[in-house]
Amino acid sequence: MRVTVDRDKCAGHAQCFAIAPDIYELDDDGYCIVDGVSVPSESESRVRDGASACPEMAITLDE
Ligand code: F3S
Repeated sequence: MRVTVDRDKCAGHAQCFAIAPDIYELDDDGYCIVDGVSVPSESESRVRDGASACPEMAITLDE
């Protein structure tokens, strides 16, 4: 699985980071900067939960 965050949609809610901080890296302003990151299989469940938690639906999962 790969995960990408649309920088134009991200509003810095950090719900993704709260659930999977090892994957959803934030920049200094609190915006998520994940672009095509490969997700280890053991983290996939949390990454899915993080994507579902984003109020802006800014996170895309490529299974
Ligand atoms: Fe941005 Fe959504 Fe995460 S708004 S910081 S991608 S919860």
